[in-house]
Amino acid sequence: MKVLEMQNVTKKFGDFVAVDNVTLSVDEGEIFGFLGPNGAGKSTSINMIAGLLRLNEGKIKILGKDISKSNQFAKKNIGIVPQDIAIYEELTAFENVKFFAGLYGLRGEALNERVEEALEFVGLSDKAKSHPKDFSGGMKRRLNIACAIAHRPKLIILDEPTVGIDPQSRNYILQSVRKLNEMGCTIIYTSHYMEEVEEVCTRIAIIDHGKIIAEGTKAQLKSIITNTKDVWVGVTSCREVDPDELKDIAGVQEVQINWEDNVIKINSAIDVNNLNKIIRYFINHNIEIRSLEEKAPNLETVFLTLTGRNLRDK
Ligand SMILES: Nc1ncnc2c1ncn2[C@@H]1O[C@H](COP(=O)(O)OP(=O)(O)OP(=O)(O)O)[C@@H](O)[C@H]1O
Ligand SMILES: [Mg+2]
Repeated sequence: MKVLEMQNVTKKFGDFVAVDNVTLSVDEGEIFGFLGPNGAGKSTSINMIAGLLRLNEGKIKILGKDISKSNQFAKKNIGIVPQDIAIYEELTAFENVKFFAGLYGLRGEALNERVEEALEFVGLSDKAKSHPKDFSGGMKRRLNIACAIAHRPKLIILDEPTVGIDPQSRNYILQSVRKLNEMGCTIIYTSHYMEEVEEVCTRIAIIDHGKIIAEGTKAQLKSIITNTKDVWVGVTSCREVDPDELKDIAGVQEVQINWEDNVIKINSAIDVNNLNKIIRYFINHNIEIRSLEEKAPNLETVFLTLTGRNLRDK
């Protein structure tokens, strides 16, 4: 089932086109990543999906229903964690979650139970009675997540949830994303951190200047720029290495020996896992392995190749 469908969606601010004719869909059970640099149009897209911003052209469907016709249905089924933390400093953590969950029609004991469940999920149960003004950035972000999930939405959207927080909270959030997904939620995750998107997402759209410039699984995106990977094997001595024998291993296309550093570079088809066979070759020939490194392209390389720019300013 498709949880989200965007059909030719365009958003303009005056003459400026922030989201340009975007068409994409997200299936149930996916962790879908929106990867793009500052100003790419990630938040604008997210805000339109969540019904917070009107579109100029196109159509957005949530669980098959057009959001312009059934806004309430979309809101009930979506939990959004906005880029800018949206919580009330003067309310306690418990009251914050209760306020947001209450907007979706939950009442009484059921509401209280859901609030407790959400606080427990983000690891803030012991802070239920505290005010967020005393929280760290990471704790505020986790509270914001609790506010978004208490009504048990089918689709959870997180807009750059790890910006400016400590590594521990970051790991906690990434783990929570996986856990929510295992519990049956579909996730949309936006970030300009290539490592995070690569780590957590099952499918990724790369967005730049409001346009989707590539879309697919990690492997598919990488195969846009190359269909090979390199394995570098450092040995004590290259003398016994026979490149022709290595080339007989499935997937291997090219073998280069660096005699000076005693390193063999083995270039293989990206979709063949032949690491075991490569290692076995060295063991069978009694050649001692000092180091082993696989160098496959990452999403940063994909972005750089497609746009000529880095994802982040360096
Ligand atoms: N309300 C607005 N009025 C005018 N321009 C806007 C408005 N909101 C966004 N923009 C512009 O639209 C473009 C896309 O912005 P958006 O916030 O969607 O980018 P983003 O990918 O989320 O970037 P970031 O990584 O910085 O959050 C930017 O050039 C931004 O300046
Ligand atoms: Mg943004």
